[in-house]
Amino acid sequence: MNFYASPSELKDCEIFVPGDKSISHRALIFSAIADGVSHFTGFLVGNDCLATLEAFVKMGVKIEQNDTDLIVYGVGLMGLEESLTPIDLGNSGTAARLLAGLLSAQRFDSVLTGDASLSRRPMSRIIRPLKEMGAEIQSSSGCLPLTIKGNKDITGILCEMPQASAQVKSSILLASLYANGETTIIEPSITRDHSERMLGAMGCCISNHDNKIVIKRPQQLQSLDMQIPGDFSSAAFLIAAFLISKKSSLILRDVGINPTRIGFLTIIKQMGAKINLRDIRSFGSESVADIHISPSHLIGIDIDNPSLVSLAIDEFPIIFILAAYAQGVTRISGIDELRYKESDRIKSMCEGMQNLGVSIEEQEHGVIITNSKFTGGEIDSYGDHRIAMSFAVAAIGANDSIKIKDIKNIDTSFPGFINLMREIGVTISTQEPKERRAK
Ligand code: S3P
Repeated sequence: MNFYASPSELKDCEIFVPGDKSISHRALIFSAIADGVSHFTGFLVGNDCLATLEAFVKMGVKIEQNDTDLIVYGVGLMGLEESLTPIDLGNSGTAARLLAGLLSAQRFDSVLTGDASLSRRPMSRIIRPLKEMGAEIQSSSGCLPLTIKGNKDITGILCEMPQASAQVKSSILLASLYANGETTIIEPSITRDHSERMLGAMGCCISNHDNKIVIKRPQQLQSLDMQIPGDFSSAAFLIAAFLISKKSSLILRDVGINPTRIGFLTIIKQMGAKINLRDIRSFGSESVADIHISPSHLIGIDIDNPSLVSLAIDEFPIIFILAAYAQGVTRISGIDELRYKESDRIKSMCEGMQNLGVSIEEQEHGVIITNSKFTGGEIDSYGDHRIAMSFAVAAIGANDSIKIKDIKNIDTSFPGFINLMREIGVTISTQEPKERRAK
């Protein structure tokens, strides 16, 4: 399926974004192996999280999902059952990597599969440390499918991670819940810490200082009741839409502002964005706020700090778009990890932006983007939800409409994206606009 997004005038708005994807995955995974019943509201009903939900149903966990309300009847650390068929995790890297850690330490064997995009993504980054802990995993040249032989004798390790990845960190943490001895993880730079926060809230003995995490095997995990915050990564697309439109203001309610997630805010503030966080409060172990965005004038900057890059890792596609709208030149480096996402995001973005007349130069570790006008035209999202949404937002200030190919995966992270875009005033449709057809 394709969609067409056209130049649009936005209206003043006050909206909610869907629940946080990373926290929704962790809510399911940790509460499934907790003792007792957990209740969540604000669960993300996106395909990635639904794949995780389905995986636990296959492993004998009773889960009641009513729209964004979730009740998980935890089976305890040792209560999962063998799935009779391979577990298909669709497009979700988070699900595949986190479950590999958990399933390495079970009493039964498992097979993890995924769609074409997920089957191309590197799994050796989790296989290596998990094997060091005693896991027995076979892969197809470092990719899915993974055949995991359950092993009760997992041991704690000291792991200095070569890449900054919350998925790898969380995979090791899940295996550590079953490991003899303690596990220490050292990150090259700080990544999202939702696992550490949630495990701590469930009574697990885990410490997290700077970039060093130490975890001890718990007797049990306690069940949890929590409202899941709005996903900051989804909010970023709406924030960008209003920064491009320059005429209207936006209030986003109940958005997660965990400090390990909001590198995008630091970056756009440096670019000149007028943004305020109001009514800062907590949903369980996570901070939330209402985000106010006012019309702003953006200027190009240099982004090269590795600590900042990992705090904004999912927001770079939309940062590229904002950089093209910003006055002057933006140089971004140290973003190699983008090449291992749902698509090679540096490549997908450069190809699309060049097709639309933007001056963007692809480099091995980053890009250089010069202020340009988007012409309108056609781009391929390569099945990558964040690429598709970035170009839909880019169209707001373009000269003409943009056809975005292969949008089916938007539902993995942001169900309702098209309706929300329409609500703020964006002309977007799966039908080709009349003026385009006439050309
Ligand atoms: C995620 C971690 C990030 C991020 C992904 C979700 C998570 O990946 O890109 O969308 O929930 O742990 P990496 O940790 O591999 O960078």
